[in-house]
Amino acid sequence: MAITLKNEKQIEKMRLAGEITGRTLDLLGEKIIPGITTFELDKIAESYIMEYGALPSFKGYYGYPASICTSVNDEVVHGIPSKNRVLKEGDIISIDVGAYIASHHGDAARTFAVGSITPEKQRLIDVTEQSFFAGIKYAKAGNNLGDISAAVQTCVEDNGFAVIRDYVGHGIGKQMHEDPAVPNYRTGRRGPVLRAGMVLAIEPMTAMGTYKVRVLSDGWTAVTRDGMCAAHYENTVLITDGEPELLTLIV
Ligand code: MF3
Ligand code: CO
Repeated sequence: MAITLKNEKQIEKMRLAGEITGRTLDLLGEKIIPGITTFELDKIAESYIMEYGALPSFKGYYGYPASICTSVNDEVVHGIPSKNRVLKEGDIISIDVGAYIASHHGDAARTFAVGSITPEKQRLIDVTEQSFFAGIKYAKAGNNLGDISAAVQTCVEDNGFAVIRDYVGHGIGKQMHEDPAVPNYRTGRRGPVLRAGMVLAIEPMTAMGTYKVRVLSDGWTAVTRDGMCAAHYENTVLITDGEPELLTLIV
């Protein structure tokens, strides 16, 4: 599939999908306290998204059973919300949200602290966010996609953490996953040239120890092989001739 360029009408729809996605994450961030379950977070997100007349993008996607992904501690991505998963002080939780409205998707993720956490876990969260911003310095028409990937990897590794290889970012629009793949590491290729109107979900996934992951028997949850913590930060990003527009970051 070729990389789609969005016209102004489509971009307006993606701004709406992105805004709902970003607002949902902000709301969830306010709800995170020790004692809440990931199931409760899922229900909060689902009803909030639907209040806008939008749908949760993930629900039913390849049979995914929930509206958001909630990945705690060593869980990297695609953790399934559960009534049995009670957040406790000192945990970190990555929440991934997608909203679909007017035939377009938004996709974003944040990692949150549950109560007070160790300085090293906080550093992992902060570096992961910083690596996203290091990457999008290169998210400009005329650059290559690989410039973003390299900047993300350098930021993460210079801070002593690892970049997940088994999962990557992606183009997004009418489909949640479109071309191109957006790796957070150098691939040995420069990748496609960025053009105004491309929309990319740029999403560094990082870990304190090894970048190697395995998928649990639920068929979804990816965890680090060494059991160390992981973090995730993602926004849906519109490429322009100037500064990129972050469609899922509410300022
Ligand atoms: N943001 C995630 C991704 O890009 C959403 C997929 S979760 C799924 O992979 F359940 F929908 F698959
Ligand atoms: Co994504």
